[in-house]
Amino acid sequence: MARKTVLVTGGAGYIGSHTCVELLNAGFPVVVLDNFRNSHPEAIERVRKLAAGSLKLVTGDVCDSACLERLFAEESIAAVIHFAGLKAVGESVAKPELYYRVNVGGTLTLIEAMLKAQCSRFVFSSSATVYGDPQEVPVPENARFAPESPYGASKAMVERVLTDVAKANPSWRVALLRYFNPVGAHVSGEIGEDPLGPPDNLFPYVAQVAVGKREYLTIHGNDYPTRDGTGERDYIHVVDLARGHVAALDHLDELHAATAINLGRGIGGTVMEVLRAFEKACGHPIKHVVGPRRPGDVARYFADPAQAEKLLGWRAEFDIERACADTWRWQSRYPDGFRTR
Ligand code: NAD
Ligand code: UD1
Repeated sequence: MARKTVLVTGGAGYIGSHTCVELLNAGFPVVVLDNFRNSHPEAIERVRKLAAGSLKLVTGDVCDSACLERLFAEESIAAVIHFAGLKAVGESVAKPELYYRVNVGGTLTLIEAMLKAQCSRFVFSSSATVYGDPQEVPVPENARFAPESPYGASKAMVERVLTDVAKANPSWRVALLRYFNPVGAHVSGEIGEDPLGPPDNLFPYVAQVAVGKREYLTIHGNDYPTRDGTGERDYIHVVDLARGHVAALDHLDELHAATAINLGRGIGGTVMEVLRAFEKACGHPIKHVVGPRRPGDVARYFADPAQAEKLLGWRAEFDIERACADTWRWQSRYPDGFRTR
């Protein structure tokens, strides 16, 4: 059966660009909506080189209802994958109104346009951050909600909105995908994570130290109750994650209303383990110091990924070593990301 067109909001971003490649490889025509607030148009050009198929770009804002209505009137959109949003935890604490405006307001605008256009298939980028400091690991989908930042709260709010919209509109099917820690890059080294300014997250920071853009990594605490004292997370390769979205689209019709699904490996890796794996990937030692714990950090969490396998037939394939090798290929080839000359 011919694949129907998917709207990918935020499709020029880190996870969005990798998902576009996998969608095109799976035969879906793709329309990307992005305002390039946190990405570069070159990412779309690279996606076009990596995968054949129909990829259309609309430059616009997901908060702009006129733009969305036009888009739905002009394109026959069968489903939406909604990545567009803001994701910096620290910035969300400083500017909560901006995060609620873009993440919650933008999603509401999108939902209204979809209702008008009778488009009823929605895949949402949620986050394991909705669980806050989990009471048990591995974390199942029915774990308590306890987001600790406005960013996390905005994801929890959108999940609630989508759950209520799906309840009110029985034809709707919604996948609420809760990502653990997305890392890695496309195996080609042509697309990858491209943070503007100093990275907050471990993988891009280690990569920038490895390539000589930053002097050393500060390990945020080595006195946690983990096997080596450093924080433990569920690092999931971005290509696995992208394929999880294709699986979600393929199984959306079988889901009930709005369904929350963890996307993780179900295996934790510590900061020290990431550091050692990256040293192996780049072939030289990575300078690091141990600093105090980062406020708000938890010791360890990783997903219970059973639901994803049961409902979507999906499980992660790649490990941390592979993620480090792919990140290094991208980072060493393009030290300044898509702005590399
Ligand atoms: P990203 O910043 O690389 O991608 C987001 C994209 O959305 C960017 O291309 C940006 O330009 C675009 N965008 C932002 N505001 C927009 C607006 N108002 N209108 C149109 N486009 C807009 O981030 P990412 O890492 O690819 O994350 C994608 C989604 O996944 C986000 O919703 C994020 O909250 C969620 N998520 C990310 C992570 C992670 O660690 N990367 C973890 C969990 C959840
Ligand atoms: C962070 C966000 C979370 C988001 C996730 C996406 C916070 C509080 N949480 O989670 O909302 O969904 O990113 O991937 O910001 N580390 C160092 N040195 C560094 C950077 C990180 O030691 O320079 C350590 C951290 O203490 C942690 C681990 O590396 O133990 C992973 O950190 P990070 O990549 O920031 O992810 P999270 O903290 O899990």
